[in-house]
Amino acid sequence: MSISKAASSKVTSPKSIEERLQIERLVPATEVVTSHAGTDVIQGLTQTPKTLPTRYLYDDRGSELFEQICELPEYYLTRTETKILQQYAGEIARITGPCELVELGSGSSTKTRILLEAYQQLGYPLLYVPIDVSAGILESSARQLLADYPDLKVNALAGTYELALAQMLPSPLPCRMIGFIGSTLGNLKPQESDIFLSQITNALEVGEYFLLGIDLQKPKYILEPAYNDSQGVTAAFNLNILEHLNQRFEGNFDPTQFEHWSFYNETENQIESYLRSLRSQSVELSALNLTVNFALGETIHTEISRKFDLNTIQKQLTARGLVPLNVWTDPNQWFGLLLCQRQA
Ligand code: AVI
Repeated sequence: MSISKAASSKVTSPKSIEERLQIERLVPATEVVTSHAGTDVIQGLTQTPKTLPTRYLYDDRGSELFEQICELPEYYLTRTETKILQQYAGEIARITGPCELVELGSGSSTKTRILLEAYQQLGYPLLYVPIDVSAGILESSARQLLADYPDLKVNALAGTYELALAQMLPSPLPCRMIGFIGSTLGNLKPQESDIFLSQITNALEVGEYFLLGIDLQKPKYILEPAYNDSQGVTAAFNLNILEHLNQRFEGNFDPTQFEHWSFYNETENQIESYLRSLRSQSVELSALNLTVNFALGETIHTEISRKFDLNTIQKQLTARGLVPLNVWTDPNQWFGLLLCQRQA
């Protein structure tokens, strides 16, 4: 090989995945496991009515089941949001210009690819910052993305949204867009959602962007099947919270003695999901030194999935300094995608 060829091959050789991947753990793994040491579980299961923090739905199995939910015919959310993203990703990229893409609760990063493609097509540098509590999922999905996009750099942050948003360093690119898609905002109670939106505002510089995907209000006959699918995947997802508690807190919940129950509360505009005890029973969580008694038919509230009104959410975002520049939806107006800009 001539000297000039060797030199040019050195200049053009792509960087390895290792060189393009950085994973920062915002909290040491042991602290993640022991933080609160289950006090939130004790609190939820000793109050009336009983509740469990929604985050316990997402152990490895729960995350897998959620991925399956996204493919279900009744669960229109993922399909609809994906179509909106496919249609408008180019427009989003043109509005923001070269931009660091931050994604909260990135999971398997499937929808992110649509945005990456759009930024790539415009010749923009690709910098992706996925944030997720599961370092395992972050690493495996980051590696797949890096293999598919040779010019991509990934700076993954393993930790909670709060920590990540509070510790975010200035972007090396001219701007940043924080994405929170999939209607995960709907899983936060109104007060939690207010705090979360303030954290987003504080994490952005004036002029930077927030991309929000939300499920919209619609008739019960469309909403309820999405959370009561005919294959029972959503039921398995909800019941898996009990297996997760068994494993994490040395418990003896028998999931066959509970049933999934989900319905649309039209007053609150939210799907409410519960587990209902099929008999009177007593359950131990040894690691928490806790015995929980259930009456026949007694419930544990595990999740809300709020459904939004576009006008109301736009006012709430504006009040937080996140001004919607564009609002895109699908022909049925089932799902909304809002591109907001941080104002002074
Ligand atoms: C992640 N989140 C937006 C889903 C939802 O629709 O509330 C979780 C889910 N729960 C049951 N099915 C899907």
